[in-house]
Amino acid sequence: MTDPFRLLKADREKARSNGDPWADLCVVATISPDGQPRSRVLVLRSLDDQLALFFNDSSPKSAEFSQTESLSVLLYLHVPKVQYRLTAAFTEVDPNVVAQNWKLRPPVPRKLDWLYETRPQSSSVPSRETLLDALDRIPESTTAPATARGYILVPTEIERLDLDQPNGVHDRRCYTRSGDEWSEAVLIP
Ligand SMILES: Cc1cc2nc3c(=O)[nH]c(=O)nc-3n(C[C@H](O)[C@H](O)[C@H](O)COP(=O)(O)O)c2cc1C
Repeated sequence: MTDPFRLLKADREKARSNGDPWADLCVVATISPDGQPRSRVLVLRSLDDQLALFFNDSSPKSAEFSQTESLSVLLYLHVPKVQYRLTAAFTEVDPNVVAQNWKLRPPVPRKLDWLYETRPQSSSVPSRETLLDALDRIPESTTAPATARGYILVPTEIERLDLDQPNGVHDRRCYTRSGDEWSEAVLIP
């Protein structure tokens, strides 16, 4: 049986080696506490052969993660012309691993992560100048704040839509995980 995780990995590698700007990105959809759909682009990282998301606990999506057991994650890889739709449970990355990875973040995102201690991500500021002044006052640091978070995605369903078909009929398959086994269903595109 095809392992859709391997397919996804191979498609991402093909995208990355061909300069696809979406190779390392995804769109994560959640539901807000008042029931509104929310989505945003996040970097989809590879961590020990698993897929991981990193963000700050001060952000609204953090509360949205804490009130759900599954996420909807979308990838579109332009070079291989493939769309993936994942339904995924998630587990927290070990805080020590988060802290190690955090050191590799560029300086501005690191400063922002510390700014979130007093001004949460996605909150409003009086002006962009206020934001830049506040960031200027944050010292350089390679120590992650306690609010840095990482989540490993644990897909339960992976749908792959392959547009790159010579006859023009897209190849759409849905893989469902049961334990360690995946079952495959061909879907009408
Ligand atoms: C290319 C790209 C990559 C991004 N990667 C991340 C990321 O890895 N983590 C993150 O918190 N936000 C990332 N963002 C910003 C998010 O899309 C979003 O604006 C931010 O996380 C706030 O979302 P929220 O208000 O839903 O919490 C990225 C945005 C873009 C355009």
